[in-house]
Amino acid sequence: MLSPEELSAIWTLDDFERLAPTKMSLPALEYIGGGAGAGLTAAENRTAFNRIKINQRVMVDVSRIDTKLRLLRREHAFPIMLAPAGYHKLVHPEGELETVRGADLGEATFCAASFSNVTYEEIRHIARQPLWFQLYIQTDRGFTKELVQRILSAGCEAICVSVDVPVNGPRDRELRAGFKLPPGVERANLSTLGSAIAGGAHRPSGRNIYSATHGADITWKDIEWLRSFINVPLFLKGVLNPGDAMAAADLGCDGVIVSNHGGRSLDTVPASIDALPAIAKRVGKRIPLILDGGVRRGIDVFKALALGASAVMIGRPYLYGLAAGGALGVARVIEILRTELEMTMGLAGCTKLSQISPDFLLN
Ligand code: FNR
Ligand code: LAC
Repeated sequence: MLSPEELSAIWTLDDFERLAPTKMSLPALEYIGGGAGAGLTAAENRTAFNRIKINQRVMVDVSRIDTKLRLLRREHAFPIMLAPAGYHKLVHPEGELETVRGADLGEATFCAASFSNVTYEEIRHIARQPLWFQLYIQTDRGFTKELVQRILSAGCEAICVSVDVPVNGPRDRELRAGFKLPPGVERANLSTLGSAIAGGAHRPSGRNIYSATHGADITWKDIEWLRSFINVPLFLKGVLNPGDAMAAADLGCDGVIVSNHGGRSLDTVPASIDALPAIAKRVGKRIPLILDGGVRRGIDVFKALALGASAVMIGRPYLYGLAAGGALGVARVIEILRTELEMTMGLAGCTKLSQISPDFLLN
């Protein structure tokens, strides 16, 4: 683990990524860093941001810059959250408990994953910032409902249902590295799930199209069903198509997370930042949009907000922070990004999130 002094000498999220190979096993590195297929969408998530140019204005009084965000029922100090990611014990022995300590230090909202290595209740017990939950609808809907009810009674503020991985896809880097969950890295929230393994398509090599722990049969009916008993904000995560975003809004979802799962789901779908404008045009006035995928700098957060997102989430960067420095590493990642956002706002010529508009971009 890096010392606080060493952490404070790291200046970019990319520097945390460069350190990652020295902080975790090769299979963990390939699992976290890799993408779907050959990783074309994962790479595109970055290059698409870099193509967008900022239209800078001068002679604006930027002596007070405010990044506060009001999102549904809550105020957030800045529009950056920690995306759900499975298996934090791959990179830190305390897993998600250490992550949430970092989120608290950094004042960020953390969305705990269905595939956490620590139960939601244990994370909730120490969280001081809002703690969201990401749901994978299980084939066993009875179990799914019990899980959601447990999470709600623990005091969950918002639920994100991830809908973009109904079946497994190839992930070249992960496959070549022979990634498997090591002993002790268990899905704690699902420990009481029976062995309701989805059937079909087992190949002699052991590869299976279907996942044991994601429903391949999920449809819009499940969203209606979840909405009937989820009494906190409900977000649909993994939307790239404006028609799907519209259906989510029509079924009463409180928001949509425009995401391609960090390029980990279907290769050659568009970069999430490229999918955002059409979705914002269709539903942006009805429900808030959160964007994730490739956000690495304050300029990226600014561009996402200019194109219609209310907030962004980051995935891999905070896992690299967790690996490098535990809670302090996570907090450092958050601090770098929020500081860069403030700097971007000041340099671009605006002082409040509500002023960030497409006028600040060149097309
Ligand atoms: C993820 N992501 C993810 N999403 C989700 O809904 N449930 C999950 O369990 C996971 N697990 C997961 C593990 C790892 C190792 C990574 C890197 C990502 C996707 C995540 O929520 C988010 O969409 C992306 O990580 C955002 O892209 P960046 O910031 O990693 O580029
Ligand atoms: C992943 C799963 C856990 O992206 O969603 O690896």
